[in-house]
Amino acid sequence: MSIKNFVAYNPTRLHFGSGVVKNLGETVKNYGKNILLIYGQGSVKKYGYYDQVISQLKENGLLVTEYSGIKPNPVVEDVREAVALGKENKIDVIVALGGGSVIDSAKIISLSIANNTDPWEYMTWQQMPQKNIPLVTVLTLAATGTEMNGAAVIQNKETGQKLGFVHPLNFPKDSFLDPEFTVTVPGDYTAYGIVDLIAHALEAFYGEGDPSVIDSITLDIIKDAMHWGPVLLNDLSNVDLRANIMLDATLALNGLTSYGKSGGDWGVHGIGHELSLLFDTPHGATLSIAYPAWLKLQKARIPKRIEKMGQVLFGTDSIDDIIIKIEDFFTSIGSPVRLKDIGIDSVGKEKFLEQMNKNKVSGMFHLLDEKDRVRLVELMDI
Ligand code: NZQ
Ligand code: ZN
Repeated sequence: MSIKNFVAYNPTRLHFGSGVVKNLGETVKNYGKNILLIYGQGSVKKYGYYDQVISQLKENGLLVTEYSGIKPNPVVEDVREAVALGKENKIDVIVALGGGSVIDSAKIISLSIANNTDPWEYMTWQQMPQKNIPLVTVLTLAATGTEMNGAAVIQNKETGQKLGFVHPLNFPKDSFLDPEFTVTVPGDYTAYGIVDLIAHALEAFYGEGDPSVIDSITLDIIKDAMHWGPVLLNDLSNVDLRANIMLDATLALNGLTSYGKSGGDWGVHGIGHELSLLFDTPHGATLSIAYPAWLKLQKARIPKRIEKMGQVLFGTDSIDDIIIKIEDFFTSIGSPVRLKDIGIDSVGKEKFLEQMNKNKVSGMFHLLDEKDRVRLVELMDI
């Protein structure tokens, strides 16, 4: 066992549970009067979440400018447009209503307005922000953990990159997590969210360091999601089940699973981001394809670690069985496990490999070279 040096920091105030949005207006009011409200492509209007949020803001006398249309796998062009709108309206606070794509965009919009910098400067780590515009989020999809972390991920089709920027100024001030706002997430995205939160726990688990208490917590989060996830998928409007998965997702990536570690690995996320970039594949769906292949690649290199995971999750230390069980779980909840499941043919595979090599996709701890990437693509298609 080794506990690595680490820094723990999490300034986000979490408001969790049914009805918490009734305190949204009062909270936002503390940060200023001129609000930029950001949301996606319409689900929040269709299901009434927008009405609840807007009435909270209006009842508290706040002035609201809106930017809508943020796409899943968000793009820098939308971020730039929202920055221009926010500057024009001299906004004091940003309220993000949506899933990871909306909240990630809002984080970078906040930095770009406050520091008068082009968003891509942050995503490529060319600039470090000095300040931000306060960000308050209302989460509508349990998956990414962005509601309580300092990360944001944005795509740029022009440069061919999907990149993450992690910074203390990215943390939301307050995040409102009402599980009732997630009951309308369809089955496929609910499953992708479950895959995503499991993948976050795994990225942490396969990072550097193995503090025993954190290993237990991390694997317990996965176990919980594997137990309740399928129950939820048969009962999508069950608020208690939604709340449980929502809590799992926040805990998987709010810093806790990295205590005692130098950091997570994130190689599988790197692979997944290239798939999203090229084929617009939903984030969680990329991870259910990439994780089994990555485990197969790593099985001779880190057998003990994979066995530890298998013992806790499945009561077995046969590595081949462990990988099959993970794959079967992803399949059982309707998330793809092979490139062909998302329609990628041999031309697509070539493009994917080329793209991974161009961006030198690798992990932080378990490094990947060109030979590994060739093998990974093969393993994603066997
Ligand atoms: O655009 P609308 O109409 O809102 O529809 C969305 C979108 O089509 C819909 N949706 C969201 N809430 C809903 C709903 N539909 C019905 N009812 C609701 N309550 O769901 C679709 C997907 O939304 P999106 O925000 O894209 O999903 P998710 O939360 O999974 O976010 C994915 C993005 O987050 C990044 C991913 O790479 C991806 O770009 N990630 C961010 C991380 C972070 N900041 O820490 C870490 C993750 O590893 C991940 O990389
Ligand atoms: Zn993820």
